[in-house]
Amino acid sequence: MANENEWGSNLAFVLAMIGSAVGLGNIWRYPYVLYSNGGGAFYIPYLIAILVLAIPLIILEYGVVYNYKSSFTKAIVKIKPKLEFYGWILPVVTFIMTIYYSTILGWDGIYFILSFFKGWGSDPNTFLTVSLLQSADSISGILNFIPVIAISMIFIWLIIWFISHRNLDEGLGRVARYFVPMLFVIMIVIVAFSLTLPGASIGLAELFDPDWSLLYNYSIWMAAFGQIFFSLSLGMGAGFTFASYTKRDIDLISSGLCVVLANSLFENFAALGVFSILGYMSLESGVAVSKLVSQGTTLIFVAYPKVFNILGGVALILGPLFFFTVYVAGVTSILSSFEVLSISIQDKFAFSRKKATTALCIVGGLASMVFATSAGGYLLSIADIFVNNIMVLFSVIVQTILFAWVFKAERLVDFFNAKSRFLKLGRWWLILVKYICPILLTVIWIGELYNLIKMGSTEFVVILGVLLAILLIFAFIFTIRPAKTDEWFKTEERIK
Ligand code: ALA
Repeated sequence: MANENEWGSNLAFVLAMIGSAVGLGNIWRYPYVLYSNGGGAFYIPYLIAILVLAIPLIILEYGVVYNYKSSFTKAIVKIKPKLEFYGWILPVVTFIMTIYYSTILGWDGIYFILSFFKGWGSDPNTFLTVSLLQSADSISGILNFIPVIAISMIFIWLIIWFISHRNLDEGLGRVARYFVPMLFVIMIVIVAFSLTLPGASIGLAELFDPDWSLLYNYSIWMAAFGQIFFSLSLGMGAGFTFASYTKRDIDLISSGLCVVLANSLFENFAALGVFSILGYMSLESGVAVSKLVSQGTTLIFVAYPKVFNILGGVALILGPLFFFTVYVAGVTSILSSFEVLSISIQDKFAFSRKKATTALCIVGGLASMVFATSAGGYLLSIADIFVNNIMVLFSVIVQTILFAWVFKAERLVDFFNAKSRFLKLGRWWLILVKYICPILLTVIWIGELYNLIKMGSTEFVVILGVLLAILLIFAFIFTIRPAKTDEWFKTEERIK
């Protein structure tokens, strides 16, 4: 049998990792984060976050998984059998992220269709919040089901199933080989066009205008670290899972560096496009760029439709192209987050890829329907905080300590150095992963918790509690169910 869980080539792995990283975080999040955190000055914390946290941690993660060639959960069991429960937490968290990410992609799918005839009308803001999302800012909106959003989200789950149930290289590998390069080409076309718009330079001057005084502010450092985590899908298990499907002859350090570079290039490129377009809009409407800029849903589903409304006929090409880019970027990311729980279940319960994918798509598709309601946007923002600000960071702290201290990062140095063409590891890397990263991560995590406690309402805290309970119950069930395969108990290590 062709190995259903192995990449056909190392290039497929690198492209799939880039596809996993490049997503909504690059297009809708980064431009705003860059602008609102000091513009040009933001590059200092951003580069430090890449050099001090991202690159060392990616290398550590790739190395450990290469050794065990297994799911995240199984690797944790091999390192410390008593921690199996922890080993299920991250896959379940990532699955929760997959569920709410499908909501945003569902919205984007609707906008893709609307963009062919500017179906959002002359007031995109009212269209989004009132006509489409019928937004309610409390849990009570959960009783109002919105069929059009549900249909668009079910379509996403069908795409996930269609691609993921196949052997890895035929499904995910093929998507990565064709769609990731295409994503970059379309983005180049969009940005090149945006740069030619009158007023583009106004937007860019505003974006990069450095505010050095912000460097003394704790929040810009937090923003940089948060951005790097989300955008690179760091610690979400995606890199871990994809790297476990690699062959023996791979240079994992160079692959990791390629992913980091491509991800940063893409998001900085996206920022050029977004701010050129906002500059154009500022020139046309007389409203200052600072008043137009926003992030998330408002940027993609309100600011962009407004720009397309004033752009005339060319918007009928640019609009669909833009929403299609977001769709492809999102789909390649969601496929990677979906994979994390799937492979853990395959590993422990001897499910075939097809069976695990089918079961998880049914469960995920059904669960995602709570977001196809008037409370969808509200619940989504809470689920996002739960996943990104609390659980992923927590998991990364534990994971870094386990990998660096219990597995022992020292074991990886010679292995990596024998294969790496560009970067050689030494004491500097050990100091980073054993001391600096865990300390920094803990400081960031405490900062995030403090911010949440300051801003949370009672309902917000109750919903966070419900999410935590769901997470713990599922992790517990997966832990106590007996393994269905002898493989679960075997330890084959590739690094001697
Ligand atoms: N890395 C993914 C994104 O940026 C999660 O959207």
